[in-house]
Amino acid sequence: MILLETADAMRAWSRARRAEGHTIGFAPTMGALHEGHASLARAAVRECGVAVASIFVNPAQFAPNEDFDKYPRTFEADRAMLEGIGVHALYLPSARDMYPESYSTYVEVGGVSQGLCGGSRPHFFRGVATVVTKLFNAVEPDRAYFGQKDAQQCAVIRRMARDLDTGIEIVQMPIVREADGLAMSSRNRYLGPEERTRALCISRSLFEAGRRMGGGLKDAAAVAAGVREGMAETRIDYVELVDAETMRPVAAVDRPVLLAAAAWVGDTRLIDNILFTPEAPKEDASCC
Ligand code: PAF
Repeated sequence: MILLETADAMRAWSRARRAEGHTIGFAPTMGALHEGHASLARAAVRECGVAVASIFVNPAQFAPNEDFDKYPRTFEADRAMLEGIGVHALYLPSARDMYPESYSTYVEVGGVSQGLCGGSRPHFFRGVATVVTKLFNAVEPDRAYFGQKDAQQCAVIRRMARDLDTGIEIVQMPIVREADGLAMSSRNRYLGPEERTRALCISRSLFEAGRRMGGGLKDAAAVAAGVREGMAETRIDYVELVDAETMRPVAAVDRPVLLAAAAWVGDTRLIDNILFTPEAPKEDASCC
C-alpha cells in the first residue's frame, strides 16, 4: 500500500491507474477505524480495479466546543487494517495543505443538510461537503463509499455529487453493528462500561420502532414518541422520521423513511438510524 501525502501526488497516482484501465474506488475516513470503515474499504477493493482510502481528521467539521482535539488517532492500527484488506493507496493530507493560510472556499449543500445533525451541528455539513469535494478532486474516484450510520451525510454527499456534476457514484453501505446491536462508531471508545450498556437503548428503541412500522404503525409522531420513551436513559438530541432521500420530516410512514436518532450518553454524542420501506399496497383484484 502506497502512502501519498499531497493532492498532486494522489492525483498523479490515480491518473496513472486510470490510464492503465483501472476503475478507482474510494473510502474516505477520519481514521480510528472499525469494522464499519473496513466494510467500505472491502467494498472498494471488491468492486473496483484499485482502492484508495484516506485518513484526515477534518477540523472544518468540528465546532470549537467539539471533540477535534480528543478525536482518537490510531494511525498504525488503521494502516495495518487497510493494508490487510488490500487497499492499494492511502491518502494522508496534512491540515496545512488542506487549509492553507487564507483558505476561503466552502461548499454548502442546501435542503438535505438542514434538520437532524444539521440542526444541532450547524457547521458540520459545510465542513464535510468541503473536505469531501477536496478529497474527490485529489483522488478522482469512479465510486466512493460511505456508511449508512451517517445517513444524512450520505444524502448530502449524494446531492452534492449530483449537483456539481462530479460523475462519481456514491455507494451507501449498511450500518455495521456490535453483536449486541450498538452501531459501530469511532466515538464508542469514549464510553465507559456503564455508558456502553446504557447506549444500547438507542438501537433497541429503533429496532422496536422498526417492528411497529412493520406491523402497520403509520403515524410518525407515535413512532418517534415510542423511540423517545425507549431512550429515556440518554439525553436526546433528536428523534425524527424523515423522507429517506430529502431528509424532510414526514407525518406518516407512506414512503421509504429514515428513522434517525442522536443522543448524549455522558459526554459522548452518538447517532444511529434505521431505514424502513412500507410494503406497496396490494392490488385489489375486484377493482377495475
Ligand atoms: O464520515 C466521516 O468519517 C467523515 O465525515 C468524512 C466523510 C471522512 C469527511 O471528513
